[in-house]
Amino acid sequence: MRSHYCGQITESLLDQAVTLCGWAHRRRDHGGVIFIDLRDREGLVQVVIDPDVPDAFANAERVRNEFVLRVIGRVRRRPEGTENFNLPTGAVEVLAREIEILNRSEPLPFQLDDDDTSEEVRLRYRYLDLRRPVMQERLRLRTRVVSALRQFLEQHGFLDIETPMLTKATPEGARDYLVPSRTHPGSFFALPQSPQLFKQLLMMAGMDRYYQIVRCFRDEDLRADRQPEFTQIDIETSFLDEQQITDLMEAMIRQMFKEVLAVELPDPFPRMPYETAMQRYGSDKPDLRIPLELTELSDLMAEVDFKVFAAAAQDPQGRVAALRVPEGGKLTRREIDGYTEFVSRYGAKGLAYIKVNKVSGGRDGLQAPIVKFLPDEVLAKILTRTGAENGDLIFFGADSTKVVNDALGALRVKLGHDLGLVHGEWAPLWVVNFPMFEWDGKEQRWNALHHPFTAPRSDDPAEMRANPGQCLSRAYDMVLNGTEVGGGSVRIHRQEMQSAVFDLLGIAPDEARAKFGFLLDALKYGCPPHGGLAFGLDRLVMLMTGAQSIRDVIAFPKTQSAACPLTQAPAPVTEVQLRDLNIRLRRVP
Ligand code: AMO
Ligand code: AMP
Repeated sequence: MRSHYCGQITESLLDQAVTLCGWAHRRRDHGGVIFIDLRDREGLVQVVIDPDVPDAFANAERVRNEFVLRVIGRVRRRPEGTENFNLPTGAVEVLAREIEILNRSEPLPFQLDDDDTSEEVRLRYRYLDLRRPVMQERLRLRTRVVSALRQFLEQHGFLDIETPMLTKATPEGARDYLVPSRTHPGSFFALPQSPQLFKQLLMMAGMDRYYQIVRCFRDEDLRADRQPEFTQIDIETSFLDEQQITDLMEAMIRQMFKEVLAVELPDPFPRMPYETAMQRYGSDKPDLRIPLELTELSDLMAEVDFKVFAAAAQDPQGRVAALRVPEGGKLTRREIDGYTEFVSRYGAKGLAYIKVNKVSGGRDGLQAPIVKFLPDEVLAKILTRTGAENGDLIFFGADSTKVVNDALGALRVKLGHDLGLVHGEWAPLWVVNFPMFEWDGKEQRWNALHHPFTAPRSDDPAEMRANPGQCLSRAYDMVLNGTEVGGGSVRIHRQEMQSAVFDLLGIAPDEARAKFGFLLDALKYGCPPHGGLAFGLDRLVMLMTGAQSIRDVIAFPKTQSAACPLTQAPAPVTEVQLRDLNIRLRRVP
């Protein structure tokens, strides 16, 4: 129906006849002449309708916003002084010979160029929201990301193999979405939280290199970077160790960034042990664009008179740390109260601070209520360790290690943004040497930090059992600008080790058999050493487009409460459907 896209109409087409199809973005009447900005996927072009062409003019008069039009006309230069240099098509316009109204539109429930439309309304009318150029641009970038990744993977011998959506639970730490089976009353499928076990089975099947761009389902608490269904670039390889896997994967990300954004990421990506990340950044996904760092003070504080600090320093599970804020002396009381409120969300009971008026001024150069509780030599060490300078402010966190890390880690990022300290655009890294297990004090048991199929560093199950807390795993995470964009591990490929890990996690042999019998069996029949990882596609695209939420890079996402305002899903079903499934509801909402 058309010869060109609207966005393609430039001076190279001067005097040529074109046929365009698109939406009337805006119509303006200018004393006898009508202007219509016609919009399609590729952009906007100005169409001019002159009263000398009566049929076209009569139709143009009936046009309203978002009518669908077909326009035949000739490209001409805009009169001098009327060009719009913000538009690629802004030097020209199309003088219409024919305007055909292909369809009408009722007035839209919101203005497309209004940036303040609520997300509920945007999601309810997502097909309109997606007409906005910014949304179209994001989805196009997403396509290019997928295409670049596929190309790389195919060039490197990866096979694209599908795995089932109706399956058995794969533990990734979230709740399962369940699907009742009609043919097996009382039994349920689980939608996959990831294809983890299937991709391992594919390695056991000798496929050697697998990938899949695959939907995963997790019923968990939602945040800006989490959706109940999201897309992974899921990868598994045989006969490669962690160094080789991470090398290959960062090469893929580097090439993709170069192709899609013309950005050169560092080669190689830095690698940071988990322990260092927690010590220096209070996080296992540090944003390295922010130059602020935590300073360890636990060893200085055991004997001080300030009880809160001394107690945390004496507790083996506690930590006292400082965060130096360059030129932070400028912060007002009110701002500091704001940060105190901020860290309380992470469980911090307070946020002590010292203003450093004069580094060499002894205790008189320091200003804070807590100074009087700290001896001279402790104050001196705080200044040297943090590298404080005149005019700085030092924040303190004292609590369990978890609370201190969560609170100061988040504060570090917030201050970095608030004070304009974010340096550079892209800071990727690998976080490595994760602990294998994490003690769950409430449940009184060990949890797998990555997942139960991750191999420990040591090949010896006895060594692992002797000291689970000290045991490191062969897992790695790729972090970009403070977001975990991917994670994976070398896997356990021996049955004895897999059984030992299940045992340590408190999964009894009969439960292990019931849940993972097929995996334990497969491990018996010549399983190759293997490993892999999965990237969160939505998170990658969110970062690459600068979107604030992964919802903005997913065509039809769910809300924070895991619902779809467009289709009104989830929704009740009929009594007949329930009966077919042998389900009776306990309580009809
Ligand atoms: P993991 O659970 O770390 O590993 O997930 C891999 C990556 O997927 C992304 N991601 C999410 N993105 C959006 N919404 C969510 N709810 C969500 N959850 C995770 C993250 C994360 O880094 N099977 C293992 C991978 C492996 O070991 O190979 C796994 O799923 O970017
Ligand atoms: P208080 O003695 O409770 O008035 O606290 C003195 C200062 O220490 C205040 O600035 C508090 O915000 C701060 N503070 C209290 N508890 C903690 C804590 N657990 N970690 C860091 N600072 C704290």
